[in-house]
Amino acid sequence: MLTMRIPVIAGNWKMYKTPSEAIVLAEGVVKALSSLDGPELVVCPPFTALAAVGRVVAGSRISLGAQNLHWAREGAYTGEVSAAMLQDVGCRHVIIGHSERRQYFGETDESVNRKSCAALACGLTPIVCVGETLAEREAGRAYAVVETQLKGGLSGLLPEQIQKLVLAYEPVWAIGTGKTATPSQADEMHAHIRKTIGMLFDSGIACGIRILYGGSVKPDNARELLERTEIDGALIGGASLQVDSFAAIASAAQK
Ligand code: PGA
Repeated sequence: MLTMRIPVIAGNWKMYKTPSEAIVLAEGVVKALSSLDGPELVVCPPFTALAAVGRVVAGSRISLGAQNLHWAREGAYTGEVSAAMLQDVGCRHVIIGHSERRQYFGETDESVNRKSCAALACGLTPIVCVGETLAEREAGRAYAVVETQLKGGLSGLLPEQIQKLVLAYEPVWAIGTGKTATPSQADEMHAHIRKTIGMLFDSGIACGIRILYGGSVKPDNARELLERTEIDGALIGGASLQVDSFAAIASAAQK
């Protein structure tokens, strides 16, 4: 059985762009990419810009995503935002367990798990991030680390929930550093992730799940990464903050 996996190109704007700056960027993205065929396109601005960007992308083929959420539906959680709130503001996607959240804000596989369940319960597509640090890769533990993140992060999810989810492999040593995993390093890890999903769920689900690569994806390396059979798109930080570079990467995803 041949499964067609539609690539996803997602921009993670991190803590960049005020709402007014975000509107300008989003307008540029809509203009540049509205007629692009092929990949699913997602932009993930900061919380404060979601509503404004949502209005800009409404009716276009660009979907709105958030960068984080809290797992509770509502409650006394000062400073947090729930899945229902994201859904109501127009989000269809949400990034979960980004390495910066794990590193600076104490996210664990358990919080990734709770957040993924909450997102799915509200009809949001989680983009669940996994990836090893440089020390872990150098110690030969990259595969084991990613496997543990997958087991913990996806624990207890039902097959039909996993089918809706997107994974992103982001080696921590490649994020914002200008160092990219080589296409074959990335491809091998993606194959391992797919195999792990096959073991945890089943081979049909493993075959259909989209696995994005993230970490210093730029217009000049996008094509060789996206050409790889196991790489189903990209999660882009720095290069998503400029219309031209984001558009060039998205165009490279037209396989
Ligand atoms: P980068 O970030 O493209 O700037 O390396 C990727 C990410 O953190 O999602």
